[in-house]
Amino acid sequence: MISFLIPDLNITPFEEGRATRRCVENLLDQDITEILDVVLNVLEKISVSSSADQNKLVSDGNRVLKACEKLVSMLVKPTNTTANVSFTIDTMEGLVFMVGPNATLDKIPRLDTTNSSVDIDLIGITKNNSKRSAAVTFMSFNTMENLLKPDFFNTSNDTIKTMMSTVISATLPKTTNTKLTKPVNFTLKHIREFDPSGSLSCVYWNISEWIVDGCSVLETNSSYTVCSCVHLSTFALIMQTSRPPARDSLLEMLNLVCVIVGLVFFSLALLTFTLCQWSPRVNNVARINICISLLLAHLLFLLTQQFLRLIRRHQVLCAVISGVLHFLFLSGFVWMFIEAVLLFICVKNLSQISFKKREVLSSVFLCVIGYTVALVVVAMSVGLLPEGYGSEHCWIKMDKGFIWSFLGPVCVILALNTILFINIFISLNSTLKNLNVEVSQMKQTKIMIFKTLAQFVVLGCSWILGFFTNDSKVLEILFLILNSQQGTFIFLVYCVLNNEIRQQYRKIIGSLCSGLKQH
Ligand SMILES: *[C@@H]1O[C@H](CO)[C@@H](O)[C@H](O)[C@H]1NC(C)=O
Ligand SMILES: *[C@@H]1O[C@H](CO)[C@@H](O)[C@H](O)[C@H]1NC(C)=O
Ligand SMILES: *[C@@H]1O[C@H](CO)[C@@H](O)[C@H](O)[C@H]1NC(C)=O
Ligand SMILES: *[C@@H]1O[C@H](CO)[C@@H](O)[C@H](O)[C@H]1NC(C)=O
Ligand SMILES: *[C@@H]1O[C@H](CO)[C@@H](O)[C@H](O)[C@H]1NC(C)=O
Ligand SMILES: *[C@@H]1O[C@H](CO)[C@@H](O)[C@H](O)[C@H]1NC(C)=O
Ligand SMILES: *[C@@H]1O[C@H](CO)[C@@H](O)[C@H](O)[C@H]1NC(C)=O
Repeated sequence: MISFLIPDLNITPFEEGRATRRCVENLLDQDITEILDVVLNVLEKISVSSSADQNKLVSDGNRVLKACEKLVSMLVKPTNTTANVSFTIDTMEGLVFMVGPNATLDKIPRLDTTNSSVDIDLIGITKNNSKRSAAVTFMSFNTMENLLKPDFFNTSNDTIKTMMSTVISATLPKTTNTKLTKPVNFTLKHIREFDPSGSLSCVYWNISEWIVDGCSVLETNSSYTVCSCVHLSTFALIMQTSRPPARDSLLEMLNLVCVIVGLVFFSLALLTFTLCQWSPRVNNVARINICISLLLAHLLFLLTQQFLRLIRRHQVLCAVISGVLHFLFLSGFVWMFIEAVLLFICVKNLSQISFKKREVLSSVFLCVIGYTVALVVVAMSVGLLPEGYGSEHCWIKMDKGFIWSFLGPVCVILALNTILFINIFISLNSTLKNLNVEVSQMKQTKIMIFKTLAQFVVLGCSWILGFFTNDSKVLEILFLILNSQQGTFIFLVYCVLNNEIRQQYRKIIGSLCSGLKQH
């Protein structure tokens, strides 16, 4: 009955006995992997629940390693030629390769697991052994980094250490002379994204810490590293990256104050725009909506940064916030574009000799356009790469080019606006030659163009500056100030520098003062 399990079909009686024994061995092998599975799972649960104590982690890690090595070495069976056993369980992959006296190999095949492989000169080792036999076990642990943490790699620099490979272990069980004839080479797949600014170390586990002695990085590219070691043991690849500079509390204070000042002026500008419909010829819709979008965006950003620690606990909330921020900032830019378009239409109307007041696009229609465009971009981004939202700061993730879902549309709008302004100037120039236009109207249009252009430059530039803040403190501060003072700027240009509104303010302040005097 047992022979039913055996793949060989022509079984002579003599061979049948051998095959049955092999089958029993196979069953034992299965038992061993089952035991391994249980042991590793239980140990991991225990360790995760008591992960605070480093000594405990180290001793648990050593126990797991020792137990696994022992169990896996039980898979080694005497063989005349070559044999191999491999198994995969949730927590590890294991592989045993055995060479006997009658092996006819000119090259030892590479021992492969999913994320790592090893090249070892087993033939040379076999020749050094009197019994002319050798065996190598190779294990790749998927979750061992929870026990043998990369932080146990003590270096002189205070760097952040990240495990870049699975923890692997290679031993030569049931082999008398385990001296290596050639360095052993491991090809390790990076299990995390490699930070090009980081430095890689091939390390081995020595009782209580990761150390480099005898191991070196042979070659590396973005997704694989080959390590070479002169001895066998437990290995890993650790990446060191420099710690981000401590958060500058002075800069944070400056940021907070600037953003709040900006928000106050945004509100004032918005209030002024909605209350004072000072000139029926000027379409305020775009300006009001720029203020609404940016006011909400800056406010949400400020609140998010203040309560970042609370928000970060809920990844979904963080992603939703970054989506909303994406939408709001984009809307601001779309409205800036609409404002330029309106200005363009206005200038075109001027240049018409018989000045027919064309029906300017209705506000409702503008609002639909203004917010739909941004919504479509966000919806497309969510559809294409939902995981792009929710960075450490609950903003768009910078890696994998996802930031272009914001910078792309912004660049397009900045380019379109530049073209529009060039067109506006050309139209204006031709209108100048046309003396039929009222001088006062001409002057007012020019002022309007200048203001819109200034707004475009200031709002657009502050974001372009954001590209380059990576390495310069001065630029970072400049970006911080420019970006937070968008509201202040809008208020200055459209309210303070506007004669009619200034007169309105004077009236209000005057009546306030006289009101105060009477009390
Ligand atoms: C392992 O053994 C199987 C047969 O049992 C064979 O097909 C395979 O090539 C062997 N693998 C290696 C790496 O030698
Ligand atoms: C590992 O790489 C080194 C350097 O390339 C080489 O000398 C050595 O023979 C390699 N070891 C094996 C087992 O292939
Ligand atoms: C790490 O190494 C430094 C010296 O380089 C030593 O002073 C320190 O005690 C070591 N820390 C641990 C945890 O081994
Ligand atoms: C660690 O410091 C040494 C000099 O002390 C430097 O050469 C090396 O690049 C530093 N490593 C990292 C990862 O910063
Ligand atoms: C192999 O590495 C990939 C990441 O590159 C990881 O997602 C996967 O879980 C790893 N598989 C094993 C068996 O370790
Ligand atoms: C651990 O390191 C010490 C020296 O730092 C060395 O003497 C010892 O042989 C190492 N142990 C192993 C298992 O490599
Ligand atoms: C990186 O190196 C590995 C092994 O050395 C190789 O298989 C892989 O193709 C390389 N990848 C790139 C992008 O060069």
